[in-house]
Amino acid sequence: MKGIILAGGSGSRLYPLTMATSKQLLPVYNKPLIYYPLTTLMLAGIQDILIITTPEDQPGFQRLLKDGSQWGISLSYAVQPTPGGTVQAILIGEHFIDHGTVGLILGDNIFYGEGMPGILKDSSRLTTGGLILAYYVQHPERYGVVTFNDEEQVIDIEEKPEHPRSNWAMTGLFFYSKDVVEIAKTVRPSPRGELEITDVNKHYMRQGALKLRLLGRGNAWFDTGTHESLLEAANYVAAVERRQGLMIACPEEIAYSMGYIDAEQMQRLTENYRKNSYGSYLQRQLLTKKL
Ligand code: DAU
Repeated sequence: MKGIILAGGSGSRLYPLTMATSKQLLPVYNKPLIYYPLTTLMLAGIQDILIITTPEDQPGFQRLLKDGSQWGISLSYAVQPTPGGTVQAILIGEHFIDHGTVGLILGDNIFYGEGMPGILKDSSRLTTGGLILAYYVQHPERYGVVTFNDEEQVIDIEEKPEHPRSNWAMTGLFFYSKDVVEIAKTVRPSPRGELEITDVNKHYMRQGALKLRLLGRGNAWFDTGTHESLLEAANYVAAVERRQGLMIACPEEIAYSMGYIDAEQMQRLTENYRKNSYGSYLQRQLLTKKL
């Protein structure tokens, strides 16, 4: 399975923070936001990833992430000229997807929890239809809202409804089979003028081909589109990391633990950070038992 990170958008809700840089390059505590969705795909076992950015911000992402070989993965880049909607990730990525299966993650989504690596690996084994993940939230009206029956079959998804029918938000992580490009081509602009990923998911739903995975209480999901949610995510990451002395979404550590790089490569990576706490952390991970 290949992966796509949609990391464009105007980020206007975060102005002035995002007037001169991309939202997905902003810090969430001690790492750039993009590290979180990137490592989510890496934990799913996906090693070939396309990063879609605005034209102006692409050089910043390339400077930060390079071609991925330092982490044993392959990163390529494409631009979205204007933010016309989340479905454009699939359309822009058509040749990259190349009739295969794909995991798509929105660049501002953060997932964390004990069972997550297993859920992600499982999800990436999808061969037919689509798969969405949903999370129980207090304010579902801010999201795509999923309604499902007792068998956990999706019966409706509504984009930011005024009167939500459930508290289950559709997260920004989707797994699709090879027919997704053809489906994406049928999507028409929504009332807010965007090509909405919700419409791709509803297409699968109508075919009875949309699987749903509910993320339980032991998981954390954040999107970081506002000043408050960005701060909340950073505070969460800081609290967990400082308590445990273990990092969330550290690409070097995940590459090492997934076997994408070996100890020698990891040792070389630590040298980039020799004089700071990030480097000492990497050094410690080399010497301690993997957790
Ligand atoms: O985060 C989950 C939510 O993401 C879902 O619950 C919603 O159903 C889904 O529509 C989406 O809602 P948002 O309102 O959060 O989407 P937003 O327009 O903020 O875009 C999400 C990310 O994708 C953001 O980091 C910017 C990027 N993006 C967005 C658009 C519309 C692009 O790169 N290009 C775009 O054209």
